[in-house]
Amino acid sequence: MAALPEALNINEMKEKIEAILAEIESLACKTENEIEEARVRLLGKKGKITGLFEEFRTVPAEQKREFGQKLNQLKNAATAKIESLKDSLQESGASAASFDVTKPGDSFKLGSRHPVSIVREEIVEIFRKFGYDVAEGPEIEDDWHVFEALNFPPEHPARDMQDTFFISSSANSILLRTHTSSVQVRAMEKLPLPIRIICPGRVFRNEAISARAHCIFHQVEGLYIDENVTFADMKQAILLFAREMFGAESQIRMRPSYFPFTEPSAEVDVSCNICHGKGCNICKGTGWLEIMGCGMVDPNVLEASGIDSKKYSGFAFGMGIERIAMLKWQVKDLRNYFENDLRFLREFETFI
Ligand code: PHE
Repeated sequence: MAALPEALNINEMKEKIEAILAEIESLACKTENEIEEARVRLLGKKGKITGLFEEFRTVPAEQKREFGQKLNQLKNAATAKIESLKDSLQESGASAASFDVTKPGDSFKLGSRHPVSIVREEIVEIFRKFGYDVAEGPEIEDDWHVFEALNFPPEHPARDMQDTFFISSSANSILLRTHTSSVQVRAMEKLPLPIRIICPGRVFRNEAISARAHCIFHQVEGLYIDENVTFADMKQAILLFAREMFGAESQIRMRPSYFPFTEPSAEVDVSCNICHGKGCNICKGTGWLEIMGCGMVDPNVLEASGIDSKKYSGFAFGMGIERIAMLKWQVKDLRNYFENDLRFLREFETFI
């Protein structure tokens, strides 16, 4: 049997109990680790209180009762303190993350896409399905790509069809593109044949701003060049586009027109999707809505970009995005698209 520790000085033991009680009272732990350390220090196998229980064995029999009670109180006080420290730590942890993850979140207002972007994407997607690639080019252009290469010789009256913003008017003027046909010229100059592209982009014309005209607007133009491309191919491509865009029942009609870069040229109308041809104020009683210009690429244009016009032929078409959006949503005033009035823009929130 192990030898008992030497008989204790009773006073010394009393002092130890007092000191440990004071320590328990002043315990302040901030972390779980600190609490565990305090528990081990007091109640662990080699802890202070456990040590006192060892010493208790040497207490004279007549004092055992008194000391026994004191020691038990000490142990209970230590255990209770440790528990309460644990509880309060848990509570404070809970309050730091005191949100209920099952509650519905606070909603905040999302921005929405601009109607011009929505329609541009829709047009691009339709032509992508038909196998067209997207081509882009600069907004600040030279005379060659906007006019000259598109069969607008200098002094040609057709230049007046598109009032131009000039940046510099030297021999080869720098200007803001008036149509994205300039991107088609750039494509013809550098892409291998066959070419099948659409060119969405912003264009600029020096026009008085009104409900029906603006100095900035957006276009999507298309170009297809290959061997044996015919007017019938163009008509079919535009009919399929119109049916995707305006509904499967849509019809198109073509009216002869003039563009310097296409021959023959046409304006395309789609049957009015509001009155279905009966005549309403959107189609001004005609049953038809004008949606784009088109035509077979003029051989001069092919040759200007180094394409053999004996071997290749192609068609081109171009439409204004704002115009298509106006027809789609019956927006009566073009200026709405540029003024960023939130009351207008929020009407398109559902189209995100
Ligand atoms: N570039 C013409 C315009 O801006 C549209 C168009 C493109 C017409 C291609 C015919 C062929 O008005």
